Amino acid sequence: MANEPKENADSGHFSAAYDLESGEQTKAHYASWADSYDREVSEENAYAQPVRVAEMVGRFVSDTDALILDAGCGSGLSGTALAASGFRHLHGCDFSQEMLAKAAEKGVYAKLFAADLNAGLPDVDSQTFDVVTCVGVFSFGHVEPDACDELLRVLKPGGFLIIALNDPFWQRGDLASKIEQLEGDKRVIVRAKEFGDHLPGHNVMGWVIALEKTS
Ligand SMILES: C[S@@+](CC[C@H](N)C(=O)[O-])C[C@H]1O[C@@H](n2cnc3c(N)ncnc32)[C@H](O)[C@@H]1O
Repeated sequence: MANEPKENADSGHFSAAYDLESGEQTKAHYASWADSYDREVSEENAYAQPVRVAEMVGRFVSDTDALILDAGCGSGLSGTALAASGFRHLHGCDFSQEMLAKAAEKGVYAKLFAADLNAGLPDVDSQTFDVVTCVGVFSFGHVEPDACDELLRVLKPGGFLIIALNDPFWQRGDLASKIEQLEGDKRVIVRAKEFGDHLPGHNVMGWVIALEKTS
């Protein structure tokens, strides 16, 4: 359990979430978690990242008509926070049908579709979105850093990719390396990188990172 958060790992879903190793394990994990995810994550453990990301989007994007893809939308907590901040044009995708069904119940997404972010977004045209958010999705057994290429492809030049992730995965190092590479290649400008709460109920900290696509 090398990746386990340090305290309060008392729930099977939370402790298992940091030890997932494959997409199949991860899909099964969210299939069994979908019904109780919002209660356990948001209500009982004060999941902070959806609001942190909505605030970050609002800092860089003043137009509430911006078209936003919430990549790895899960049950829709991240989209709900964006909608509460006034953003009206939200699409969401996820590879868990069970989580997508919960997201549909939120009523904040104009479009929801199934996609494995490690395999790309073949049905999405390049330069479609003004903003792509990816909240709690880069993690162990979830989405790998190379998915940034595809998230940037579907983003318009000058658009923002906003990533929120847990600190244990950030410490693995390869997302940081990927972002350094993108920055070195002048494909993105890092506009913000902030440490703060991720899941306070389990003492997990995390990052919110804002990348502006250059071209
Ligand atoms: C911790 S949840 C976060 C959901 C939502 N963004 C939030 O902040 O509540 C992680 C989500 O990533 C999705 N996910 C994991 N791996 C994925 C992949 N390879 N492609 C698409 N979605 C994936 C899971 O199904 C799950 O809904």
